[in-house]
Formats: sequence, C-alpha cells, structure tokens
Amino acid sequence: MTDNLWYKNSVFYELSVRAFKDSNGDGRGDLRGVTEKLDYLQTLGVDCIWLMPIYPSPLRDDGYDIADYYSVDPAYGSLDDLKVLIEAAHQRNIRLIMDLVLNHTSDAHPWFQAARSDKNSPYRDYYVWSDTDQKYTDARIIFVDTERSNWTWDEQAGQFFWHRFYSTQPDLNFANPKVREEMFNVARFWLDLGIDGFRADAVPYLFEREGTNCENLPETHEYLKQLRAFMDEHYPGRILLCEANQWPEDVRPYFGDGDEFHMGFHFPIMPRIYMALKKQRYEDMEKIMRRTPSIPENCQWCTFLRNHDELTLEMVTEEERQWMWKEYAPEPRMKLNLGIRRRLAPLLDNDRRKIELANSLLFTLPGTPIIYYGDEIGMGDNIELFDRNGVRTPMQWDDSPNAGFTDATPFTEPIQGKLGYQNINVAGQLNDPESLFHALKQMISLRKSHAAFGGSDMQWIQTGNPHVAVYLREYDGERMLIFNNLGDSVQQVNIPTEYRQTGTELFSSRSITLGDALELEPYSYLWVQL
Ligand code: GLC
Repeated sequence: MTDNLWYKNSVFYELSVRAFKDSNGDGRGDLRGVTEKLDYLQTLGVDCIWLMPIYPSPLRDDGYDIADYYSVDPAYGSLDDLKVLIEAAHQRNIRLIMDLVLNHTSDAHPWFQAARSDKNSPYRDYYVWSDTDQKYTDARIIFVDTERSNWTWDEQAGQFFWHRFYSTQPDLNFANPKVREEMFNVARFWLDLGIDGFRADAVPYLFEREGTNCENLPETHEYLKQLRAFMDEHYPGRILLCEANQWPEDVRPYFGDGDEFHMGFHFPIMPRIYMALKKQRYEDMEKIMRRTPSIPENCQWCTFLRNHDELTLEMVTEEERQWMWKEYAPEPRMKLNLGIRRRLAPLLDNDRRKIELANSLLFTLPGTPIIYYGDEIGMGDNIELFDRNGVRTPMQWDDSPNAGFTDATPFTEPIQGKLGYQNINVAGQLNDPESLFHALKQMISLRKSHAAFGGSDMQWIQTGNPHVAVYLREYDGERMLIFNNLGDSVQQVNIPTEYRQTGTELFSSRSITLGDALELEPYSYLWVQL
C-alpha cells in the first residue's frame, strides 16, 4: 500500500456501522460486524471504506455530535475491534477512513459542560459565546427545518452560544489556538491507530468573522493547510477528504496548490445527474462541469449519487430546487431541509436501466466514485423515520427475519415491501449473475482497471443530440469515449469524424466500429476504449 495517489483510481464505499451488521446480538451493527463483511466488500471491489462516526455520542445528530473524541462508543465495539478491522481490511488491500468532526462537539462533551458551567473555565473559550444573538447575522441557517437561529441561549452559561447545525452541537472556537491544537491531537490519535485518513466534516464553517457569511474564510484554509502539512510530515499516503457543500469555484481553494485536501466532494454535479435523468437532457451536467475549475494533479474530486444525508439541493437555484422537489419528492414527508430524504432506487423508480445509467455517469465522470451502502443492491428507504434515519436502515443481507442483519430485535426495522429485504438482498444478488450487484461490480472493476477514468481530463463531444451525454476521458495514453442515453426512447448520435474508428466496448470486451452514426437503446450506456 505505497502508492501515495491511490485515491485517484479507487472506489469508495460509505457505511453506517450501526446499520451494517450486528455481530453480538444486541440489534445494533458494530465494528466486528463490518469485519465479518469485508469479504463481501472485497467481492464488490471496494478500495476504501468510510465509516460514519463511531465515537461516544448522545446521537442527537447520529454521532456527528461527539461527546468523546478518543474512544469508540461501546455499542460499536472497542478500539481493539477497530484495530482488528483496520488490519483485516489492509490484508485485503482495502483502506479505511473515518469522520473527523472539527467544527463542533456535542453539548454533552465535557469541554462544553465545563464551559457552560464556569465563565472562568479554560474551556469557556473553546466555544463561541455572545451576550447578543445579533452577531454574524450574515451566516445562513443550515438545518432550516429545526433551527431558527445559529445562536442558542444557554441558561447555565448566561450567554448565547454559536452553532451552525443543531443547537445540541455547539461550534468550537477555532480562533482559540488550544482548540486548533486539540484537533491535531484527535487526528494524531486515530492516524496512529492505523486509519488511512479522514472525511473532514463541515469544514467551511470553522472560523467566524463579522461582515462575512462565515464560510470558506481564509483563516479556515490556513488551518486546514496546517493540518495537511502535519499529515504529510507524519502520515504520508493518508488522505483528507473535504466535505464542503459549495459551488465548484468555492471548493477549488480547498485543494490549495495541492497542499490542502487530497479530495473534495463534488456536490453540485450530484443533483444535476438526477435533473438529467428526469429532463432526459444532459445540458445541466455539462454546464456545471464546464464551471468546474481544474485541480492540481495530486488532487481528486469525489463523486456520489447518494449518501447518509438528504439528497442536498443547496447547490441548485431556487427554481431548480422547486422543480427537483416536484419531480422527486411528491410527498411532503420526502422533503427534509433543502433536500430529499430518499435512497437511490426509489428515486429512480426502481428502474434498473436508470439506476445503471446513473452509475454509468458516476463512474465515468472525473472524480473517484463513492457508493452508499445498500445502493449497490438497490435497497429501499423509509420516509416515515425521523430526520435522515430512513436512509440509514439495516443492510439487507438476505431474506431471513431481520434481513440477516441481526438475530435480535433490530435498532430499527429493516425495509419491507417491494424494495425490502424479502425481495432485495445481498444473498439473492450474489447468486444471480444478472443482478444489479453484478452490474456494479463489473463497473467498479472496469473503472479501476483504466487509468483514463482516474485522470481529470474530460471533453464533451457534440453529437447534435441533447438526450445523449457523450464525452471523452483521456489520460496516460488511454482514451475512453462514453455514451449515456438519458432518453426513454431510442436515440441516434452523429459521431464526429475523428472518432469514426474501431475500439473496444468495455462491458462486452467486443470490438466495435464507430461509423458516422450510432443508435442507443433507451437509458443505455456504452463505454468505448479507442
Ligand atoms: C455533515 C454530515 C451531516 C451532519 C452535519 C453536522 O453535513 O454529513 O450528517 O449532520 O455535518 O455534523
């Protein structure tokens, strides 16, 4: 495991430890459960697992509210269990990253408890306090369904405290050098345990400054660069993945000169993939990719279709948001904050062609794809559950009671019905060579075995047909011509002269001769190596 640019040609997989596999019969998934299922992830072809937070937490934000940065919540196991998991993963050439939640702690964290109870405590200044709630008024509210202000009055402290997320998640005060140092210690602790890096949560909001929207501030970048330098010095080859739900030009600085983040999520392309599928036109995707600045050679975008949060619509216009809600969230329960709390398969009408096509886009656009657990089999969701829990239900392993997830009463019921475990499960799909699982497995393997996909180059090819996204991916002497028919009918594209040649269609490994035109079945895709 020495290639320091490993993340450019990888496939990532995000999972909720609680929902993946219960090994000890308490109804909740745990680290040993993940270890038990490494063979499965290896079969799928995953290179790196991102574990959602496993730190002790009152779970007011499903673990993103951390009460202790230095241990594992006993419900998930122990530090030793984590070490075993890391080792077993590494033996299979699978890496593992964890969430690094820098911006805030839980209000149950001893720092906050000390801070609120004593004005003179050294921890008081770990948080952001004010006598008025009229500071930093240009900062938007993120959890608009629940929060009315970024300030909450604390009776005990006799002051307001600052929080960008739930009021149970006070923001740390990064203006305080002690806080900045504490977070280095946290990073060191987990890297010393052997993890391969972090998905750094909510980084745009670390610092506050009056007169700004308190996002993406220069002092935030300065701190993150120090964190990167620290990692490069002591832990080369480990990565930082940036969660900045921002426009491409605002994410660009998070890559710095190749000296800040290794990777950054590309948020705006995600909703545009759904827009493209519904409109049967690729123009919105093309626009946002053209608006995406180039990034340093040692950096990489990270692309996704779904994750543990709502399908965020922060990076679209108001008009586009209303349209997305109308098309994809017809029932009020499906909406959450500025997004949609549904999974991939239900969003795409459980239409196998659309699910594969969305993945074809994901796997061939610039960036390293990340799969959200369960989406590789087309798992369902439950919009009745609180907050985002409806997309964090037990993994559907087989059709036995409780989906093969646990022998006990599960922390939440697995999905029932058409997309439930009786119909959609790993065991069934492993046995069926025609399943979605096997289609994705092949995509993953093709994506990884061709350097062209890991590069950053992408050229849109004009074929005169707005329904078919055609582009060239080129890197290191390899050239891939990709066709994605977004239309629900057969579409024809004109092939520009320079591409009229014989190539290899990657899925069938058959030779294909591109003439002056090509016909594509509804929702079909073709990856041609020239
Ligand atoms: C990130 C996480 C989200 C969490 C928030 C606050 O956006 O993805 O799940 O609620 O940060 O930590």
